[in-house]
Amino acid sequence: MIKTLEWTDDGVRFIDQRKLPTEETYVTATTYEEVAEAIRNMTVRGAPAIGVTAAMGIALGMRDADGDHVSELRRRLDEICEEMSETRPTAVNLFWAIKRMRDKFDQLSDLPVAQIRQGLVQEAQRMYVEDIAANEAMGRHGATLLPSSGGVLTHCNAGALATCGYGTALGVIRAAYESGKKFQVFADETRPFLQGSRLTAWELMKDGIPTTVISDNMSGAMMKQGKIGAVVVGADRIAANGDVANKIGTYSVAVLAKEHGIPFYVAAPFSTIDLDTPDGSKIPIEQRSTREVTHFAGKQITPDGVKIENPAFDVTPARYVTAIITERGVLKAPYEEAIRRLADVAPVGR
Ligand code: MRU
Repeated sequence: MIKTLEWTDDGVRFIDQRKLPTEETYVTATTYEEVAEAIRNMTVRGAPAIGVTAAMGIALGMRDADGDHVSELRRRLDEICEEMSETRPTAVNLFWAIKRMRDKFDQLSDLPVAQIRQGLVQEAQRMYVEDIAANEAMGRHGATLLPSSGGVLTHCNAGALATCGYGTALGVIRAAYESGKKFQVFADETRPFLQGSRLTAWELMKDGIPTTVISDNMSGAMMKQGKIGAVVVGADRIAANGDVANKIGTYSVAVLAKEHGIPFYVAAPFSTIDLDTPDGSKIPIEQRSTREVTHFAGKQITPDGVKIENPAFDVTPARYVTAIITERGVLKAPYEEAIRRLADVAPVGR
């Protein structure tokens, strides 16, 4: 399995996603500040991977923090969590992971500080294992929904590289393919960071899953020609009513899918569902550097001074979503009720 991120005694080790697919290089973040920077600069990306990375960053920062008293450690925890929470605002898994680490600290706070430090490292490692288990469960639940032949479209990268392993949308694709289905995957290029053409294509090719890269503006034509039997994507945040924030361009794909009568599936762990956000209009959308749009492989491709927009995500209203595949089961509309029903089910892998 691709090692997107891993805890080591020296720090958190990442495959550098900025360099793929032409260079497979690894970097180790040895301080929590370096971990936060790796999230910001997209060395590591994808909502579940961001969450577990943040947890490992907190564990690393706490392991190496000065302080012999719980009160000193708590002050440090506040600072570290503050820095982590400012890295990428849309992926709710980030805030979920921070909360889980804070809760763990509270549970351990009567113990000697050495045990608190160790307990936080163990909690982050547990989250890593649970993430892979959740993805495999999503795969089992979602595999039957995909067609046996034809094409399956995905947007961005919701694969092993966006998680601790196996992937959400690509986990469903992997599981369906492993079960003997013979579709091919269409990977949207996903401008401007090219997660589809660089990352999704790279990891599916490694697994021998037939993959065709298309530029973002080709998906409508492919649907019209009958080449796409289903769409499956990941999510950065799902509001309580089922509205889905995901990589910019997802909304257009969802609208096109509806127009062509093609099912549009979202695969995401329960930690991506944000019960505190009532609908998609309340989801904060990260704005990224204009340079991602003005430059391509280091070369300027727009005129000097032109205005640029670069929202990293968009929101697909729940009415376009055929089903949400989670590790706890498959949710169908009305999502508000379906989400609340599964919210109390025991988490997978714990
Ligand atoms: O900006 P990115 O690359 O972090 O965006 C990633 C996505 O939009 C993914 O689809 C989403 O995080 C789900 S990953 C399992």
